[in-house]
Amino acid sequence: MTPRREIRFLLNDRPVHLTQLAATDMLLDHLRLDQRLRGTKEGCAEGDCGACTVLVGRLGAQGLEYAPVNACIRALASCDGCHVVTVEHLRGTDGGLHPVQHAMVEHHASQCGFCTPGFVMALYALWMENPHPTEAQIETALQGNLCRCTGYAPIIRAGLAMGDYGTTDPLMEERAQVAAQLNAWQDGARVEVARG
Ligand code: FES
Ligand code: FES
Repeated sequence: MTPRREIRFLLNDRPVHLTQLAATDMLLDHLRLDQRLRGTKEGCAEGDCGACTVLVGRLGAQGLEYAPVNACIRALASCDGCHVVTVEHLRGTDGGLHPVQHAMVEHHASQCGFCTPGFVMALYALWMENPHPTEAQIETALQGNLCRCTGYAPIIRAGLAMGDYGTTDPLMEERAQVAAQLNAWQDGARVEVARG
């Protein structure tokens, strides 16, 4: 089979095709520097603080499955065939705040705000699976996220309340379309791209 000369993935609602990249290129740099999606923050740049949390969706045994990842240590090349979701893509069904964001606002869960996009994305991954989690489930979901300001209690309260602000969002409605695109890209080809 002829090698494929590009990697491709969905970034929020649009396809990205890259023909040049290095094995050491990280997803966070691509998002912030190339795509200018700067809602995803760089804190430690070594996988400890969670400020760079995004969701990565891939087709698995159960269909389309999303997981929170630290974009600062996620190799860009490994996103081939995936759906990368950043905080810019979050919205409610009415186009306003997403239920997770709404809960964060109502519970005063942000102060300086630097950690907030990461917490929102980590809670978003939990909300997708379980919009009404227990405190223990929230603590587990947020164990990779650090905040220097809030003391965590307001963030936990936001997590406990997030399901009260809604249990569906536009991304859930787009799932079939996203899965069809990722499925169409599954060619089994070896990938060879030039070093960027
Ligand atoms: S920037 Fe701290 S985990 Fe990525
Ligand atoms: S709100 Fe300032 S670090 Fe979390």
